[in-house]
Amino acid sequence: MSTVDVEPLWIAVAGKGGAGKSTVSGTLARALGRLGHDVVAMDSDTMPGMCRSLGIAEPEVTRLMEAVERVEERKWRLKPGYGPVRAVQRCSIPAPDGVRLLQLGKADAAENLKPVIGAVGAFHKIAGRLGDSRTARRWTIVGDLPAGPRHLSAGFASYTRGALVVVEPTSQSVLAARRCARFTREHLGRPAWYVANKLRDEEARRRLARMLGEEPVAWIPYDLEVAAAERAGLAPIDAAAGSAAVGVIESLAAELSERRLDGL
Ligand SMILES: Nc1ncnc2c1ncn2[C@@H]1O[C@H](COP(=O)(O)OP(=O)(O)O)[C@@H](O)[C@H]1O
Ligand SMILES: [Mg+2]
Repeated sequence: MSTVDVEPLWIAVAGKGGAGKSTVSGTLARALGRLGHDVVAMDSDTMPGMCRSLGIAEPEVTRLMEAVERVEERKWRLKPGYGPVRAVQRCSIPAPDGVRLLQLGKADAAENLKPVIGAVGAFHKIAGRLGDSRTARRWTIVGDLPAGPRHLSAGFASYTRGALVVVEPTSQSVLAARRCARFTREHLGRPAWYVANKLRDEEARRRLARMLGEEPVAWIPYDLEVAAAERAGLAPIDAAAGSAAVGVIESLAAELSERRLDGL
């Protein structure tokens, strides 16, 4: 729980699959927690991701299912009395640095899909109602979105005041990133900032800036310590503390916290 007086941030992390959304969002959430933010990490990606980057074990069950009830065969709703605050208090998983993780749920097997379908509607409602609650307005929200621009509109990110779009130097990643940024700016009317990831050399950096047509706010190098942390199933901020990549994300957390990004 935060004791330092910081202004909350509501940030969604978007981009193509594999670009580094979970790595960036989990590390950013932990770094903001260390800066005094009361962070709620919202993982709406049904692929495993934020548990690892936050440094906690993947839960066996979809905790959010405690907050929903079925009304018809394919229709679910939030249980009476469940708003965003109660859902976070009852269904989130504690992570280091005071971060709490609210997870949509993971679709890892066919029989596991049902709970996820129930949790999607709940997640949308919670995300959409965060702004109504005085308690929730004091939290900093960091969202890990499913790949692609569609999910910025699908209700997963209705809380967002700005999107970080993670992009690696490949044409497919750039294509997806530009769509995410455009969608955020034109449809949500919110700022979007590119975070370049997995840069291997100066040439890749120049090429990426040229393809994007604008300067990213952060350049994260391809980092062997981050890759090793992933192989060990550990959080980069723990297992690769002090690495170049984690250092860049920590600086980005400070810039966000001090509101030094354009439009924030
Ligand atoms: N800067 C980096 N250096 C090395 N490996 C990275 C870096 N960023 C991400 N990775 C690795 O790339 C893979 C995809 O990253 P992840 O964060 O899971 O992407 P996404 O959530 O966008 O699908 C993971 O194996 C991760 O460890
Ligand atoms: Mg991910």
